[in-house]
Amino acid sequence: MTPAAINTRLGDVQTRIEDVLARCLPRTDEADSRLCAAMRYSVLGGGKRLRPLLVYVTGEALDASIEALDAPAAAVELIHAYSLIHDDLPAMDDDDLRRGRPACHRAFDEGTAILAGDALQALAFEVLANGSYTVPATARLQMLSVLAHAIGTEGMAGGQAIDLAAVGRPLDGTSIELMHRRKTGALICASVELGAIAAGRTGAGERAALRRYGAEIGLAFQIQDDILDVVGDTQTLGKIAGADRALDKPTYPSVLGLAAARQAAAHHRDQALAALDELGPASARLRELARFVVDRAH
Ligand code: IPE
Ligand code: IPE
Ligand code: MG
Ligand code: MG
Ligand code: MG
Repeated sequence: MTPAAINTRLGDVQTRIEDVLARCLPRTDEADSRLCAAMRYSVLGGGKRLRPLLVYVTGEALDASIEALDAPAAAVELIHAYSLIHDDLPAMDDDDLRRGRPACHRAFDEGTAILAGDALQALAFEVLANGSYTVPATARLQMLSVLAHAIGTEGMAGGQAIDLAAVGRPLDGTSIELMHRRKTGALICASVELGAIAAGRTGAGERAALRRYGAEIGLAFQIQDDILDVVGDTQTLGKIAGADRALDKPTYPSVLGLAAARQAAAHHRDQALAALDELGPASARLRELARFVVDRAH
């Protein structure tokens, strides 16, 4: 896929996933309407939708039907939205702007934002368990297990804990890599894996190659996020530029310098591309996505 084709595909996925997500989310006319409104506010109408795109592109490369991919695609985006709400809270990154709008705790209040994150996490697992009805139960169980592992202590939550503990303290290259692999890479890797599982692909070699691909683009994605915090602007990013430095957050540019951070992002992209060598021509779109992860401007 060319960059223009990626944008078209992103646009198609954004339209489809918006509709799938809107149907998964609770309606706002129920008793806990403030909570439901906060959930809808944070999930709908914004974001690149990279993680659902990875589910769809991986699944389609392995001949899954698009209907089998809707539930895992929604689940990873619901988890992502939950992670952004909690990441922006005053107790974490204390960010007021997200996707060009007030962060959830600013648009609502802190308590509601915490609960919206909790409820989105629960909803993701409910959607995955119940929504993938065309996928056999054993595969659904595997998807639940992969997603749970990716966001727990050895994944997102564990990575966020390293991040919090490191504020204002020096972190070496090995520790920052582990932090990034966990806080961001694990969910991105799980998105690729869920696409493969939904496609019914159980071959150990193929799955291992896709896992390596997902882990490497996941790390490259967070390195590029760190770089964009330094070189991007608030308008384009939809979040406050320079926020990492303001909080003395450990990032690839702060630990290694900008040039080395760029080299690291390119290196991990290349590792991801190398992992795809075993998969042949079906992986062409995954290759383009690996390039998009480091070439993107927001
Ligand atoms: C931002 O993720 C948070 C990180 C894990 C770096 P994205 O850059 O995918 O955010 P959206 O979904 O496009 O807003
Ligand atoms: C976010 O990392 C990681 C998770 C949300 C799990 P960042 O804190 O760098 O994300 P942004 O820059 O606020 O989007
Ligand atoms: Mg953070
Ligand atoms: Mg943040
Ligand atoms: Mg960031």
